[in-house]
Amino acid sequence: MEIHIRKATPADAKYIALLARITFREAFGHVWDKDVLVNYLATTFSVQKMESSLQKENNVFWLAFADGLPVGYLKLKKHCPYNTIEDPAPAQLQKIYVLNDFIGNTIGEKLQNEAFNELQTLDKETLWLAVWDGNPKAICFYEKHGFYKHSKYHYDFERMSFDYEIMVKEFKKDSTKKTTARAFAKQERLQ
Ligand SMILES: CC(C)(COP(=O)(O)OP(=O)(O)OC[C@H]1O[C@@H](n2cnc3c(N)ncnc32)[C@H](O)[C@@H]1OP(=O)(O)O)[C@@H](O)C(=O)NCCC(=O)NCCS
Repeated sequence: MEIHIRKATPADAKYIALLARITFREAFGHVWDKDVLVNYLATTFSVQKMESSLQKENNVFWLAFADGLPVGYLKLKKHCPYNTIEDPAPAQLQKIYVLNDFIGNTIGEKLQNEAFNELQTLDKETLWLAVWDGNPKAICFYEKHGFYKHSKYHYDFERMSFDYEIMVKEFKKDSTKKTTARAFAKQERLQ
């Protein structure tokens, strides 16, 4: 299987909207109230909403293709403070979804690596996400990629009630910059 990942543009709104609808139902359809789900999918993942989300400077989306077919996407919010996270300028991995038929082929890992690279280019130190605590496979995936459980968050929506794990991954500052700063501080002390 040939996997290709690229950044998405507003012209990709239809791909992402369709992927978002299908993958959300595949992942959570069994626990959501049916009527609430139908309504949620139609409003949250409309093509117009996706188009506007793709245009926001703060958002970056990637699309994954397997043998030319769109099969997964990732949404990153570059600046997204969270009240109990010390870093005032963390990023949020807001969505990562792969179609059921393609799960387990390292597509998620490849999507995530794109986001990690972007964050390092932006010199970000903290990435956080919220994952439903009834999704142990995703939690395991995140732990495998360096996230740790930071805190919990409770959310009531319509007639449903969910508990989320807030997970955090920390990136080291550019070590060359640190070394230079350390060397500079030492030199200052010697003078
Ligand atoms: C989480 C997700 C994006 C990972 O993508 P992926 O392409 O399956 O990931 P990879 O192939 O790189 O890694 C597979 C690992 O993910 C984990 N995983 C997560 N969900 C899985 C699933 N449904 N089936 C098998 N493995 C799964 C496993 O721990 C596996 O690790 P292993 O190889 O040690 O067994 C993908 O499984 C997915 O879209 N799941 C459904 C939607 C979801 O839960 N999104 C996250 C919401 S917070």
